[in-house]
Amino acid sequence: MAQIDPKAGLVADRNLALELVRVTEAAALAASRWIGRGDKNAADGAAVDAMRKAFDTVAISGTVVIGEGEMDEAPMLYIGERIGLGGPSVDIAVDPLEGTSITAKGGPNAIATVALAEHGCFLHAPDIYMEKIAVGPGLPEGVVDLDAPVETNLRELARAKKCEVGDLMVCTLDRDRHRDLIKACRAAGARIMLIGDGDVAGVIAVSQPEAGVDIYLGSGGAPEGVLAAAALRCIGGQMQGRLLFENEEQITRARDMGVTDPQRKYGIFDMARGEVMFAATGVTTGPMLRGVRRFAGGAVTHSIVMRSKSGTVRYVEGHHNFALKPTAFVA
Ligand code: FBP
Repeated sequence: MAQIDPKAGLVADRNLALELVRVTEAAALAASRWIGRGDKNAADGAAVDAMRKAFDTVAISGTVVIGEGEMDEAPMLYIGERIGLGGPSVDIAVDPLEGTSITAKGGPNAIATVALAEHGCFLHAPDIYMEKIAVGPGLPEGVVDLDAPVETNLRELARAKKCEVGDLMVCTLDRDRHRDLIKACRAAGARIMLIGDGDVAGVIAVSQPEAGVDIYLGSGGAPEGVLAAAALRCIGGQMQGRLLFENEEQITRARDMGVTDPQRKYGIFDMARGEVMFAATGVTTGPMLRGVRRFAGGAVTHSIVMRSKSGTVRYVEGHHNFALKPTAFVA
C-alpha cells in the first residue's frame, strides 16, 4: 500500500480516490446479493457491513459526518465514527446503498456511494428533507435559483441553453409532495423524468449529457444532497439546497449539528468545500453506471471516481474473482 504523509493532506493523495472505489465496490457487491429479494433492510445491512470493513484497509484517519445515523441508532458508519488505517485527516460522507427500495424491487439506478473532504468541509446535514435545485456545467453562474418560480428557472435555463422550454427535461422524485412542482413544470411546457428513488444519481444526471437531464428539482434527503453536491463539485455543475424542517425537534437537532440559520440557502460550496473526492459503484443499472453482474465464481462492477482538484472523472470496471477475494467483500 502507498505510504502517505499525514501532513501532506488530501491534496497530495491521488491514490486515495482509487481506494475509495474499493470501498464502494465492496458495498455494491454485498448489496447485489439482495437485488429483487424484497428485503431492503437486508440489502442495506449487507452494504453497510461490507463498506465498513473495506474502510479498515484505507490509509486515512476518517470521521464519518454523513452516515447511517447517530451512534445509538447505527452500529456502523454512525456519525462521528472514526474509520481507516491512519493517514490524512478527512471527513467522510457515505450512503452504502442509495436506493434501498430500488434494490429490493430490482429496479434501476441503485448505487453505493462515498465522498471525502478535508476536515470540516462538509455540511453536517441532519437526516431530514432538503429542497434541491441543480443544473449542469457550462452555464452562467446563478442561471437558476432555489427561490425563483419554477417557470422563471425553466425560462432562464432554456435561454442559457439556447433552446425552448419544451426541449428541457426536468428530473424529480415521483412523490405526492411534488404535485405542484410537477404541475408547474408541465404548465411551463417542460418535459419531466419522474424517478422512483435515488436523487443522488438524479442530481448527478444534470452533469452527464448522455442522461438527458437538464435540471433537477424537488426535495429529498439532506444527506443525499451533500453527497450529490460533492459529486457536482468534481464533475461540474451548480446546486443549491435548503433544509426543510417539519418540527421544532428537527430544528434543535440541526442546531446541535452546527446549523445556525435554519432558513439558509446553501450553495454547492457551503455543502462541500475545499478538495473533494467522490466515488460510486452501480448496484443496479442506471444511466450513469451499470449494475453488478454476478456469475459463477465472480462478478463485474462498474464505478465512477472523481476529484475536484483535477476534475478527472474515471470509470472503473472491476472484475472480481471470489475465489481470491476476502469473503467480507463478497458477502
Ligand atoms: P434510501 O436508499 O435510503 O431508501 O433513499 C432513497 C431516496 O430516494 C433518496 O435518494 C432520496 O433522497 C430519499 O429517498 C427521498 O425520501 P422519500 O422516499 O421519503 O421521498
